[in-house]
Amino acid sequence: MIPVNEPLLAARELEYVTECVRTGWISSAGRFIEEFERRWADYCGMKHGVAVSNGTTALQVAVRCLDLQPGDEVILPTFTIISCALAIVETGARPVLVDCDPRTWCMDVTQAAERITPRTRAIMPVHIYGHPVDMDPLLALAERHGLAIIEDAAEAHGAEYLAGRHGPHAAWRRCGGLGRLSTFSFYANKLITTGEGGMVLADDDRYAERARGLRNLCFRPERRFYHTELGYNYRLTNLQAALGVAQIERMDQIVARKRWLGQAYTERLAGLPGLQLPVEESWARQVYWMYGLVLDESAGMDATEFGRRLRGLGVETRPFFLGMHEQPVFLARGLFQSECYPVAERIGRQGLYLPSGLAVTEAQLEQVCAAVRQVMTERRT
Ligand SMILES: Cc1ncc(COP(=O)(O)O)c(C=O)c1O
Repeated sequence: MIPVNEPLLAARELEYVTECVRTGWISSAGRFIEEFERRWADYCGMKHGVAVSNGTTALQVAVRCLDLQPGDEVILPTFTIISCALAIVETGARPVLVDCDPRTWCMDVTQAAERITPRTRAIMPVHIYGHPVDMDPLLALAERHGLAIIEDAAEAHGAEYLAGRHGPHAAWRRCGGLGRLSTFSFYANKLITTGEGGMVLADDDRYAERARGLRNLCFRPERRFYHTELGYNYRLTNLQAALGVAQIERMDQIVARKRWLGQAYTERLAGLPGLQLPVEESWARQVYWMYGLVLDESAGMDATEFGRRLRGLGVETRPFFLGMHEQPVFLARGLFQSECYPVAERIGRQGLYLPSGLAVTEAQLEQVCAAVRQVMTERRT
């Protein structure tokens, strides 16, 4: 079976992790933590990095930094992982959903503008499957209405966005460097992985200090075991950060490999009737975190059946997200009643992603494409 993801670890990771074991720096202090934070923040063009235990806790910490009040609203895409919505709901604020753009599968930025109310405090764009959200309109809205942007860049390490493309100062900027706060996951299927891990990035010193406090039980610097606020133990270990530092050193290669894989899939699958492939808008350099396919209804099967048939040919896949407005846990809380987001609903049923990890070989890529072609041909016969 060709797995949907397999991490690609190298000698440098082993060297750095061995150093942690040899020197005894295995918990949440040590040189790799600070280096990981500094180098990742630098890479993304932000001033501060605060490493945490995973991408979900990164979102929880980032949202807590905004001091939202019950009834405040945060706009986010319905088509995302539950971590985004849970970080908002936990604070007592209200998640306000928008549908996705049918091409990029990222949030529909026009709908975001329509959903702003006097209670809106923030927008949470999520760069889906490695393609950047169209950030300019969101940044303009944030400026106009005094809103914070929390960018969830968990799936978009190294992806770039052409900011200000309609003006004289257009410039490519990395995802995770565009919002007031941004978050990353370093789970095993991400471009950079620490096994489990995450990071919050911010330019503002106060957010960074707040995030460091929240990550570490809100210990006060002036007096140990004295707390004025409730925090968490969301610390990352030096062992995990050692893996991250080793991979940042070859980040350009990692991005190039992912882009090669994505483009190679597109070359081989383009023109196959009944399949929508990932796009790369002119203002985006995407990283194909996961190579998604959306099956046309005319194919006569949904993604579950498509995935089952591919599995029969030795190819593992994963279904797309199911929208937040269709999640029983939120409906039971009275959220998103009767809300309907047709694009997310459609791609949630018709979409899946193919093996996309760094370890996919050229032979495996050919095998996956042959399997896709075979399933797509059989359904017509
Ligand atoms: C967009 C997005 N945000 C957040 C997360 C949560 O990250 P983690 O699994 O590290 O908690 C994920 C996980 O894949 C994700 O895809």
